[in-house]
Amino acid sequence: MLLCRGAKGDYTMEKKRNTFSGGLGFVLAAAGSAVGLGNIWRFPYLAAKHGGGIFLLVYIILVFTFGYSLMIAENAIGRRSGTSPLDAFRKLNKKWAFLGVISLLIPCIILPYYDVIGGWVLKYLLAYLTGTAQAAAGDSYFGDMLAQPWVVLAGQTIYTLFNIVILMRGVQKGVERVCTVLMPILVVLAIAISVYSITLPGAMEGVKYFLIPDFSHFSISSVLAAMGQMFYSLSLAMGIMIAYGSYLPKESSLEKNVSKIELFDTFIAVIAGLMIIPAVFAFSGGDPSALNKGPGLMFQTLPKVFASMPLSNVVGAAFFFLVLAAAITSSMSIMETIVACVCDHFGMARKKAVILVGVLAWLASFLPSLGYSVFSGVQILGFDILDFMDFITNAVLMPICSLLTCLFVSIGIGVKVIEQEVCISGEFKRRRLFEVMIKYVAPVFVSAILISSVLEAFGVIAF
Ligand code: PHE
Repeated sequence: MLLCRGAKGDYTMEKKRNTFSGGLGFVLAAAGSAVGLGNIWRFPYLAAKHGGGIFLLVYIILVFTFGYSLMIAENAIGRRSGTSPLDAFRKLNKKWAFLGVISLLIPCIILPYYDVIGGWVLKYLLAYLTGTAQAAAGDSYFGDMLAQPWVVLAGQTIYTLFNIVILMRGVQKGVERVCTVLMPILVVLAIAISVYSITLPGAMEGVKYFLIPDFSHFSISSVLAAMGQMFYSLSLAMGIMIAYGSYLPKESSLEKNVSKIELFDTFIAVIAGLMIIPAVFAFSGGDPSALNKGPGLMFQTLPKVFASMPLSNVVGAAFFFLVLAAAITSSMSIMETIVACVCDHFGMARKKAVILVGVLAWLASFLPSLGYSVFSGVQILGFDILDFMDFITNAVLMPICSLLTCLFVSIGIGVKVIEQEVCISGEFKRRRLFEVMIKYVAPVFVSAILISSVLEAFGVIAF
């Protein structure tokens, strides 16, 4: 195949680029990217931390105003430029080439540590499939796993190989097909586990806490947390939506597709909340702080909750399979973004690019994964290696990238360019909302996230 071949910076081969088969393929792939660890683990724990129902309400409002506008912008930049993030900005305005570099840097930092977490998920899945739910619930199980270099390295190696194999098959046969199979399975499993969780004795308190807004819990910090979560969950500011937008056929409606992705992502976040919050409430006797364990929620608290249930191995295996499906469809999107940049910019053949990126990501993943054993003495700004990679992307680079993207749209190319691109494939009903968000609201809020998360990390303020 001639895919992606061509001289550096030569766009004459554009027509040979990969594309999704159509709107549905795009929606499933983008929803696969959006639905990830962010929905299943991060959203329920943030919701519990920030007052339950009120967080959910704020989150939903943000997704359909702010998130919507940024997602439209990124997809339109991708489709308009017909290329991946590294070159997309440069192609639309030469002066903004540097933003392409930032957009590529973010996935390059996220991919290695996401692969490490993918490896942990594999290990837990194996534990439940082999009937060791009680052992997995032990206090030291998670710590022991992290302290065994060979176990974590094996997990992340297998996980990375899955990603390589899928991407080798291309955008339609690999990315799109895997999402078409895994996303429906994920929905069915999530609904089944949440029904089970809601019917546990004592779970209704958790359902009420999560779904009924209590306005006395409203605070600016919950708005900022909801906004940060929204970025992460919708896979914004990581270059992914630019790469996927560049694969979207011109005749497919951008506006309708973006609405579907958001609806789907939010639906899964809500279902995940219903899966986890009521179960933890039932287990802890109604204490929301039991959810407030950061990463420990998924790998330490939930295994204890599962172990206390009848059919613990089945529920645990179903849950970790679901998490694996969500994680894989996200990590392959972030790897695809890097592969697309390598193909488009350097003219490398796709398969070679997949192997190159896969091997480099695998090597880079040694750092975060061995951060709990061999490199346990290494601390950067007080973070261990994996947490630092998470912090620098989520709290610093992603807000910077989205702030610059807003400025790029309003100053660098003008909102009209994006609007024209959206209009090629149908009406742009929320055009006014888009303009106000991108020009005024988003830059202010994103700057607030950036400042507050950095200050919080350095202990200047506490949320
Ligand atoms: N949207 C993803 C999630 O919710 C975020 C993500 C995508 C992270 C791709 C890494 C890679 O988990």
